Amino acid sequence: MNRLILLSIIMLMPLCLAQDINVEKLLAYNKWSSQYQRVYLNEHEKLFRQMIFFEKLQKMKEHNSNPNNTYSIHLNQFSDMTKEEFTQKILMKQDLVGHLTKGASQEATHNDVNSEAQLNSKSPTLAASIDWRTKGAVTSVKNQGNCGSCWSFSAAGLMESFNFIKNKALVDFSEQQLLDCVIAANGYNIHGCDGGWPAYCVDYASKVGITTLKNYPYVGVQNKCNVTGTNNGFKPKQWNQVPNTSNDLKMALNFSPVSVLVDANNWDGYQSGIFNGCDQSLIILNHAVLAVGYDKQDNWIVKNSWGPYWGENGYMRLAPNNTCGILKYNIQITA
Ligand SMILES: *[C@@H]1O[C@H](CO)[C@@H](O)[C@H](O)[C@H]1NC(C)=O
Ligand SMILES: *[C@@H]1O[C@H](CO)[C@@H](O)[C@H](O)[C@H]1NC(C)=O
Ligand SMILES: *[C@@H]1O[C@H](CO)[C@@H](O)[C@H](O)[C@H]1NC(C)=O
Ligand SMILES: *[C@@H]1O[C@H](CO)[C@@H](O)[C@H](O)[C@H]1NC(C)=O
Repeated sequence: MNRLILLSIIMLMPLCLAQDINVEKLLAYNKWSSQYQRVYLNEHEKLFRQMIFFEKLQKMKEHNSNPNNTYSIHLNQFSDMTKEEFTQKILMKQDLVGHLTKGASQEATHNDVNSEAQLNSKSPTLAASIDWRTKGAVTSVKNQGNCGSCWSFSAAGLMESFNFIKNKALVDFSEQQLLDCVIAANGYNIHGCDGGWPAYCVDYASKVGITTLKNYPYVGVQNKCNVTGTNNGFKPKQWNQVPNTSNDLKMALNFSPVSVLVDANNWDGYQSGIFNGCDQSLIILNHAVLAVGYDKQDNWIVKNSWGPYWGENGYMRLAPNNTCGILKYNIQITA
């Protein structure tokens, strides 16, 4: 980590020196750092963090003053992190996801009947828009902290919403149980805070059951698995991978929320509006979220796990089609 910071300092130096640091910027920094209660190791780190902050402040001003942009960015908990740190600490390791997605297709499907036909029969016509939040089917926005455990939040959210739709009870499930127990020792190729795969969580829960958040609270580091037996709570019975077209994802969303993998490299500053800031020529699936609907313009509505102050109260609207790779590897519970 120290080496990373040093390297980054060296790389940032020319940019920093070229910047004029005025009172306005310093005031913005002080306001932000007291709001986010920043505590640094020493003066060097503080200076380093300030430099990153000033650059992000500048980028934000440029971005938000361009009327062509369909979304705005703001200052948030990531405003003093380098791109590398954000990718390392918050997102999943890219090689891991590549590895997982290659081996995941068998795991991602678990059903006896043709699920597409089944979904079709349940929703013969597509609603012009759908938002599961308005139906009370989505729990509050959570915060994964500095741990790449997005996969457990995406999976818990998927099970919470399905449980609501099926059993009419909206209960928070335990991401920590998934983080602690969906592990190699239990037969899952998953790497805790370095990343994982929502389909494995659903498979695990179908065998062991997922308990409530209240029973097994989130602490944001991987601990020893603390459940026994096979009767720990909600158990999904059937799930499947959603085919990779817009129409299939819309059809799936007419039935329930969907766990989706995305490229979130450029999501750090998102404040509001229709996000289209991914490099579509280089999609790396490094984050898992929960799609909860789409609007009349076909923008996707997704629930993130970076707290309620990120984005639109913790949510994001993504431009239509395969924006940020949202169509690529998705799962849904069907029974
Ligand atoms: C906005 O888009 C128009 C049309 O593509 C372009 O001519 C203009 O330079 C853009 N404005 C900015 C500030 O980028
Ligand atoms: C494990 O769970 C039990 C009860 O659910 C609790 O009393 C105990 O403190 C937990 N142990 C750890 C290490 O979290
Ligand atoms: C979508 O899935 C099909 C197979 O079901 C595959 O051949 C195709 O490459 C996929 N397209 C994308 C953009 O991932
Ligand atoms: C993207 O979505 C829009 C709206 O649904 C559609 O009209 C358009 O054809 C799509 N574009 C591509 C490239 O798929």
